[in-house]
Amino acid sequence: MLKNFWYAVEFAHAVTRAPRRVTCLGQDFVLYRKRDGEVVCLSDLCVHRGAALSAGKLTGDRIACPYHGWQYEPDGACSRIPANPPGRGIPKKARVDSYPVREEYGLIWAFLGDLPEDERPPIPHFPEHDDPSFATVYVEMVIEANYERTFENVVDASHTPFVHGTRFGNPDRPEIPDYEIVQDDWSAVADIGLSPPPARGLWKRLYKEKPEEVLVTNGWYLPNIVKLHVRLPFGDMILYDHNVPLDRNRTLVKIVGYRNFFTGRWADRDARKRILSILLQDKPVVESQRPELLPYDLADELHLRSDSLQVAYRRRRRQLMAAGWWVGDEAQLPVNGARGSATVIPS
Ligand code: FES
Ligand code: CO
Repeated sequence: MLKNFWYAVEFAHAVTRAPRRVTCLGQDFVLYRKRDGEVVCLSDLCVHRGAALSAGKLTGDRIACPYHGWQYEPDGACSRIPANPPGRGIPKKARVDSYPVREEYGLIWAFLGDLPEDERPPIPHFPEHDDPSFATVYVEMVIEANYERTFENVVDASHTPFVHGTRFGNPDRPEIPDYEIVQDDWSAVADIGLSPPPARGLWKRLYKEKPEEVLVTNGWYLPNIVKLHVRLPFGDMILYDHNVPLDRNRTLVKIVGYRNFFTGRWADRDARKRILSILLQDKPVVESQRPELLPYDLADELHLRSDSLQVAYRRRRRQLMAAGWWVGDEAQLPVNGARGSATVIPS
């Protein structure tokens, strides 16, 4: 897993004055809003006896553990121990970890690594979020698979005619034209001309004239985000798909979607239903993939030209592994010496 990145751990609207537990990279965190609206992210493990702070209550900007009432400040320091008689000090070690938080694009992002602010990889820019012509939809689903498998699945254009043949994939046109990738340190994006969804059902009503192809911008942003921008003749649909690693074999897929057609009152429910039904088609296939973890070695699976975006990811991930950015799951790292060496940062 890549720890030194911003992770979108929750939808912003789900974080309130009621403490909320979220999980990422196998660790539990508690999120809550201070009175001024700013979001706090603390380790969800009280240092006294290990109770979950997320089951506690807020007192002003502090969170009180439900077990013995210890109160923690937004910076993680314990500032009140009710069992102590007046005048007794608070041990220095009475503190939980506090994590940097940002609220952007309708999401709460937490930085779980240890890099100083100016060295942290950026949160990608989602330009649609501030464009009033787009309606927004929030969808989530747990998939029992490693996040790199669910992540690569969204970058994978060639599965759509098979897995989504009944929805938007076109089984009669499975070819993927060659595409050019535009890549930087943290992302890789490509424009791909794909066969449009078949003209039936809703699509039939929407197409005035069915185009030969629709331009789809597909790409990834490290550590776990996939962008899918489908340019339909009647409007644009953009999905940002966050593959939140809950633990080794479970992923919380959180999608923030935008579209500038059908933006009426029922848009949200309709879009959610559609996105969920598509995720349900992906779920069993991705959960069946073996090995469960993405192989380290590029030669361990077969790649076609149409898999270039995934190959670009696997290459970039190898570089980051070799530079010591990878945490946990040593099985995925190259054997020292045999294929070059990598430093394992203890998690
Ligand atoms: Fe949290 Fe005792 S376990 S106060
Ligand atoms: Co799919």
